[in-house]
Amino acid sequence: MTTAFGIDIGGTGIKGAPVDVATGKLTAPRVKLPTPRPATPDAVAAAVRELVAGSGWTGPAGATFPGVVVGGTVRTAANMDPAWISVNARELLGAATGLPLTVLNDADAAGIAEMTFGAGAGQRGTVLMITLGTGIGSALFYDGVLIPNTEFGHIEIGGKDAEKRASELAREEHDLSWGKWAGRVDAFLDRMEDMLSPELIIIGGGISRKWEKFVPRLSLRARVVPAALFNDAGIVGAAMAGSRAG
Ligand code: BGC
Repeated sequence: MTTAFGIDIGGTGIKGAPVDVATGKLTAPRVKLPTPRPATPDAVAAAVRELVAGSGWTGPAGATFPGVVVGGTVRTAANMDPAWISVNARELLGAATGLPLTVLNDADAAGIAEMTFGAGAGQRGTVLMITLGTGIGSALFYDGVLIPNTEFGHIEIGGKDAEKRASELAREEHDLSWGKWAGRVDAFLDRMEDMLSPELIIIGGGISRKWEKFVPRLSLRARVVPAALFNDAGIVGAAMAGSRAG
């Protein structure tokens, strides 16, 4: 069994678990710590160290980050402390944990997991995964191959950053009805569809558990399905990336 430790760094929580990367199953219950505030690099690294040390893990690891990550270096941090920008997260978190570690964008990680073990398994052609949470994340695949760091959540709709209008956080903060919010998600996905013509759109993030409240209200040509791994997709994708690099 090839196992790697997956760490999912989010705006509210940092979750981790060892994963059997051949099956995508967690081999121990996941552990969660609150994301420190402010979510500075050193504070987050200390939380990641605590999480990994508590698990007793000593093999390869992968971590997600909610921003653009190129070659281990963070390029954007819309919902994290701006001090992250230009930080080499791979080195920082690798040194904090003492593990060989890979870092990748959170939506890309979730997408990799869904394409292998979940809603996109075996799907050819263009697949778009969108995560609706604190922000809007995106992962684009063609014949199963990822084009990383797409950042579609930041396209402008009606002059506003799409994630400010249509994320799960926007729904909560503006107390939007399911119908109103679904309309905003639809407008966003409609633009995505105009640009990319995906055959399949996978909706992830915690809200995908309530998909029947909004997915039936969407009016898209593509098939739209909820993520199958729900909130574990980031952990599983991080572990897969970690096992490949490690
Ligand atoms: C970030 C993305 C991230 C998404 C979901 C956006 O604000 O720019 O990189 O994938 O939030 O966390």
